[in-house]
Amino acid sequence: MATRKSFASDNHAGAHEAVLRMMARANAGDVASYGDDAWTERACASIQELFGASGGVFLVFNGTAANVLGISLLLRPYEAVILPEGAHLNVDECGAAERVLGSKLLAVPTPDGKLTPALIAGRLGDRGDVHRAQPRAVAISQVTERGTCYTLEELRALGVFCRSEGLRLYADGARLANAAAWLGCSLAEIAGFVDVLSFGGTKNGAVGAEAVVVMAEDLMPGVSFLRKQQMQLASKMRYLAAQFLGLLEDRLWLRNATHANLMARRLADGVRGVPGVELRQAVESNAVFAALEPAHIERLQSEWEFHVWDDATHEVRWMTAFDTTEADVDAFAAAVRMTAPNGSRASFT
Ligand SMILES: Cc1ncc(COP(=O)(O)O)c(C=O)c1O
Repeated sequence: MATRKSFASDNHAGAHEAVLRMMARANAGDVASYGDDAWTERACASIQELFGASGGVFLVFNGTAANVLGISLLLRPYEAVILPEGAHLNVDECGAAERVLGSKLLAVPTPDGKLTPALIAGRLGDRGDVHRAQPRAVAISQVTERGTCYTLEELRALGVFCRSEGLRLYADGARLANAAAWLGCSLAEIAGFVDVLSFGGTKNGAVGAEAVVVMAEDLMPGVSFLRKQQMQLASKMRYLAAQFLGLLEDRLWLRNATHANLMARRLADGVRGVPGVELRQAVESNAVFAALEPAHIERLQSEWEFHVWDDATHEVRWMTAFDTTEADVDAFAAAVRMTAPNGSRASFT
């Protein structure tokens, strides 16, 4: 059934054919369970090499689990994680970290979803106070929830600051591929500044698979046990592994992300200058944030699927995916123009 392309989320996209083909290949005969198989060994070794990780790689079912497992490696029970107020970990994970780990999240307001050394320093005042949770880790997202990317310089500054303050650095990499594509750098270059990070497969064309990459060897003891305890040890792990192998072959992960980013840029270019449409963030990944009049949003949403990001500011988020076509983007951009308030509709026709 052909339907209009959704601009709501890269999660609305299906899975890439190459991923499905690899899963079908993995679906042959019996293999050992719980990751003790050649598929998992190959996928994890390849990811480890790609990231230059001295620790290891642990596959999990989804991004929330990857975040919870990732930060659980960094905190003792009385320690806290500093993160941007709008972080997925803070807002969109139903309090998973608080519930599963019992850890305090110290949220910092940020205009663009990015933390800086100065913003982190502002949350370190309670150190040594026995009444306060002790900041021990920092969590960032790369790409951020606002579709922006930390530059390598910004990551370096965060890494240096965290190290000098005895803080561990975690990166939510649900869209790490999009960040690497935008920055034109390797995954290892991004990962070199952090201690643990996730590598998202799901939004990049997988059915549902994420990897937790442990960069530092000293964080390895206990990871396998924590993953099991957190209910993320897949018995038929080969299927998670096969999804990553599909994405890794011929750097499909990078081609998918590059394409999605390009489609977002095309969309931003296509709606620039439409009266009443104000782009709100730099387009540095596969997301476009824009403010529109509420009536305009309503007209557009009667035909097209996308999320209102912030009701108060009438801000919407339009997302592209690996399978968004130029024709999809052009049709959507035309609809944005067609449904724009008065003047622009007249000028379009
Ligand atoms: C920044 C970020 N982190 C993590 C996730 C993964 O969450 P999920 O548990 O839904 O796979 C998402 C999904 O939307 C996200 O946008």
